[in-house]
Amino acid sequence: MSDESVQCQFYDQGERLPDQLPESPFGIFQAWFDQAWKERLTPNANAMILSTIHDDGMADSRVVLCKRIDHDPPNPGSVVFYTNYTGDKGRQLDANPFVSACFHWDHYERQVRIRGPVIKTTEAESDAYFASRQLESRLGSWMSDQSQPIESRDALLEKVAGVMDKLGLDAAALMNNQENIEIPRPPHWGGYRIHAQSVELWAGGVGRIHDRARWNRNLTKDGDGYTYGPWSSTRLQP
Ligand SMILES: Cc1cc2nc3c(=O)[nH]c(=O)nc-3n(C[C@H](O)[C@H](O)[C@H](O)COP(=O)(O)O)c2cc1C
Repeated sequence: MSDESVQCQFYDQGERLPDQLPESPFGIFQAWFDQAWKERLTPNANAMILSTIHDDGMADSRVVLCKRIDHDPPNPGSVVFYTNYTGDKGRQLDANPFVSACFHWDHYERQVRIRGPVIKTTEAESDAYFASRQLESRLGSWMSDQSQPIESRDALLEKVAGVMDKLGLDAAALMNNQENIEIPRPPHWGGYRIHAQSVELWAGGVGRIHDRARWNRNLTKDGDGYTYGPWSSTRLQP
């Protein structure tokens, strides 16, 4: 690939972060998220790269979907994703419950970086979200021992049949009556809430004079949650 072929016409929208940075980054973050979600220029506009720390000390990254953003107490400035608690990322989070999450909305020349500790969502919150998932997704959560090796795709498909037996489900009934099938949430599956301690907003600027600002705050562990100090913000060179 020649240098010329990788030249691009990006960074021509010239979006600016406000001169006076807002007290919290979550208003702008939510507006950016909402626009990406509404216009859906990519199918998974809620995707974020989630990085955890592997037990070998190296960072480990993968895509997950952001399912909720909270501004207000009791979890002001937090985002939620759902996963298998016993897969690699779940085990890594047991050992080191801190993450970095990164949204990139290429069409809008925007990036959001969030760092902070995670806490599992409450059973009630995980149950409610699980119940809202499509049937295939609910079955899949039972079927997959996420991140564990398996000898073949056929073996994976056999596991689906095993799960149907285990849950007492009948394939024909499933096909005909998808809406009313009750499938409990597996105990190994649920949500994590990232409590933002640091948020960086990046907006592509004309001539690569990008706008960047970072907000930080102190979090203090308080029972099962946190108390939050005020945000402080700094504009950064691109
Ligand atoms: C677009 C996209 C969305 C995904 N969303 C999720 C998700 O919300 N939760 C999840 O556990 N895995 C999701 N995955 C799969 C993860 O990237 C990853 O393969 C899986 O979670 C296993 O990661 P681990 O072995 O590090 O635990 C998604 C993958 C893609 C490409």
